[in-house]
Amino acid sequence: MATIRLGDLAPDFTADSSKGTINLYEYLGDSWGILFSHPADFTPVCTTELGTAAKFKGEFDKRNVKMLALSVDGKASHLEWIKDINDTQNTEVNFPIIADEDKRVSTLYDMIHPNADDNLTVRSVYIIAPDKSVKLTITYPASTGRNFHELLRVIDSLQLTAYHSVATPANWTHGEDVVVSPSISTPQAQEMFVKGIEEIRPYLRMTPDPTA
Ligand code: BEZ
Repeated sequence: MATIRLGDLAPDFTADSSKGTINLYEYLGDSWGILFSHPADFTPVCTTELGTAAKFKGEFDKRNVKMLALSVDGKASHLEWIKDINDTQNTEVNFPIIADEDKRVSTLYDMIHPNADDNLTVRSVYIIAPDKSVKLTITYPASTGRNFHELLRVIDSLQLTAYHSVATPANWTHGEDVVVSPSISTPQAQEMFVKGIEEIRPYLRMTPDPTA
C-alpha cells in the first residue's frame, strides 16, 4: 500500500474488533474519526495509552470524534487485554480495538515500518474528517507513548480551520488568538472577522479565536 497522505481518501475496510465486525465508513458515519495503532497486546506503553484514551473518550465525544484503535493480535487476546487495561488503568475501554492478526488493515494503512520492526505496527495516528479525507497523520515509535492532550489540541485546530479562514499558531490551544489565512487580504479580513484583526506584519495578522 502506498503511503497515505494528507487529503487522501481514508481507505475503507471491514474487520473484526473487540466489539464485533466493524466497517470503517459505517462506524464513522458523519463524524470525525481517529484511528490509532498499537504494536501488540499486553505491552506496557500500549496499556497506558489505551487506558488514557478511554479516560479521554468524553473529550473526543464532545468534538464529535469516533475512536478506533488497532493492534495486530486477535479478538480473544484483545478481550483478555482489555480486562487488564481496565484493571490496571482504573478505567473502562469504551471504544473498539480492531483485531488485525493477518495485518490486513495495518498494511492498508502503512502502519508496519519494516526498518523499525517487521511484525509490529508503529504508533500511527490518522485523523479523518466527515468527508473521509485524511486530515492528519502522525507516527511515533513503539517506545514513545502518545500525548492525548496534543491529539485533542490538533483536533481543535483541524475543526476550527475546516470552517473558518484561519490557521493556528505554534502551541495554540482553543480560545487563543489565531492567524488570518494568508489567502485573505487585510481589507477582506477586516470585514470577515467581527472581533477585529491586528496587523503585526502584512503577512502576519492575528484575530481572536472566532469560536471562543
Ligand atoms: C509497549 O507498548 O510497551 C511496547 C511495545 C513494543 C515495543 C516497545 C514497547
